[in-house]
Amino acid sequence: MELLEAIKSRKSIRAFKPDQVPREVLTELLEVARWAPSGTNTQPWEFFVLTEKVLDELSHAFVEKVSSGDIMKLIQPDIEMFKRPAKGIYGRRQQKFFKQFLDLLEPEEGKTKMQKWFELSASRYGAPALIIVVADKSAPGWFILI
Ligand SMILES: Cc1cc2nc3c(=O)[nH]c(=O)nc-3n(C[C@H](O)[C@H](O)[C@H](O)COP(=O)(O)O)c2cc1C
Repeated sequence: MELLEAIKSRKSIRAFKPDQVPREVLTELLEVARWAPSGTNTQPWEFFVLTEKVLDELSHAFVEKVSSGDIMKLIQPDIEMFKRPAKGIYGRRQQKFFKQFLDLLEPEEGKTKMQKWFELSASRYGAPALIIVVADKSAPGWFILI
């Protein structure tokens, strides 16, 4: 596939087949990912690949935190978006996104659609593999030349 075609045809997937992703495919993805540029070439990332039992257990624990409402207590103080709703054009785009997306979800008794969305996210929409990318906080991200 041509690069431009790939860029234009990509989209966020929110429903996955349960088939395991072959190990060679995961390895190839990591091999390609490590070619990404980084400030002063520090390459401060680490990748964690989660599949099968470990992934199920983590997801289960995460979904439970989301369902019980605990997750909101954990993330609320840290995430700007929860403290300050988007304004102007960004707010309008976000509202449009929420309307289009949440309208697709089936209503469920005792749950808001927003809650349902958080639960779906926590269960990775059923994706059979998860790659977590973390960056070392102590690594320099960027600097300004004066
Ligand atoms: C930084 C970032 C965070 C995102 N977070 C979520 C998320 O938590 N849940 C989700 O379903 N989609 C998430 N998305 C996907 C966006 O909603 C999506 O990219 C956007 O609506 C455009 O749709 P498209 O990717 O299909 O072109 C995120 C995308 C980015 C770039």
